[in-house]
Amino acid sequence: MNDPLDDPGRTVPTRTVLARAEDEHGEIVLCRRGEVFELVVDGVFAMDTTHTATEEALATLTLTRLPDPGSGPGSGSGPGSGPGSGFRVLVGGLGLGFTTATLLADPRVGEVEVVELHPALVEWIGQGLVPTAKGLLDDPRVIVRTGDVADVVPTLPRDRLDALLLDVDNGPGFLTHAGNTTVYSAPFLVTAARAVRRGGVLGVWSADRAPELAVALERACGECEEILLDVTRDGRTFTYVVYLARVVR
Ligand SMILES: C[S@@+](CC[C@H](N)C(=O)[O-])C[C@H]1O[C@@H](n2cnc3c(N)ncnc32)[C@H](O)[C@@H]1O
Repeated sequence: MNDPLDDPGRTVPTRTVLARAEDEHGEIVLCRRGEVFELVVDGVFAMDTTHTATEEALATLTLTRLPDPGSGPGSGSGPGSGPGSGFRVLVGGLGLGFTTATLLADPRVGEVEVVELHPALVEWIGQGLVPTAKGLLDDPRVIVRTGDVADVVPTLPRDRLDALLLDVDNGPGFLTHAGNTTVYSAPFLVTAARAVRRGGVLGVWSADRAPELAVALERACGECEEILLDVTRDGRTFTYVVYLARVVR
C-alpha cells in the first residue's frame, strides 16, 4: 500500500518509533504519528489505525453470511456465549487487531484463533501499545498462535471452523513477504476450505482485484463473491477487495 507520508506538500505530525523487532521473517516496526498508530513491515507501510473499515468489513461481511451457530457439523455447540460455543473463526494475521476486535464484538462468536507471524507484534498488542487493541487478547474467546498461517491451516481438522479469514499481506499482486505466495495459491485454499464447515466462509482481504484468486476460491469452496470497498486516504481513493467464498460442497 502507499505510504500516506509520501505526499511531499503535506504537514504531518512527526513519526515516532514505539517498538521495533526483527525475526527470521524480517523487520516489524510500530510507529506513532499523532493519534495514529502505524505498522511497517520490512520498511513497507502495512496499515494504520486511520482507515480500518475494510479490515472490519472482512469480519462483518463474513458474519452476515454465516448460518446460525450450532446449525451444522463442526460449529460451536450453541448460541455464542463464550469459549466452546458459537462461531469458531480463525484469523490469519493479527495486524493492529481490527478484524479480530470486530469479530469479538459479535456475541455469536465463541472462539477466535489468531495466527500471527511475528511474535513481537503479539507482545506489543498484549502490552497495550496500540490503544484501540487494548485488552483484545485478554478476551477468553481468543487463542493466539505465533507462526505462519500456511503451516497452521493444514493441521486443522476437517470442518473445524465456521470461517477462516486471511489478511496476511496486500493480496497476491503485491506481497510484502514473498513466502505468502503459498497463502493465495490454489492448493492452500483447497486445504483451507476443508477446515471450514459446509455453509461457512473462507474470506480473503486484498488491496487489489485478483481475478485468479477469485477463481481459485470458487473452485476450492463452490461460490465466491468479490466485494469492492472504496477508501479515501489523503484525497485519493483506493479500491480494496474482500473475497468471500462460501463452502457449498
Ligand atoms: C495487514 S495486517 C492484518 C490487519 C488486520 N486484519 C487488522 O485488522 O488489523 C497483516 C498481518 O499479517 C501478518 N502476517 C504476514 N504474513 C503472515 C503469515 N504467513 N502468517 C501469519 N501472519 C502473517 C503480519 O505480520 C501482519 O500482522
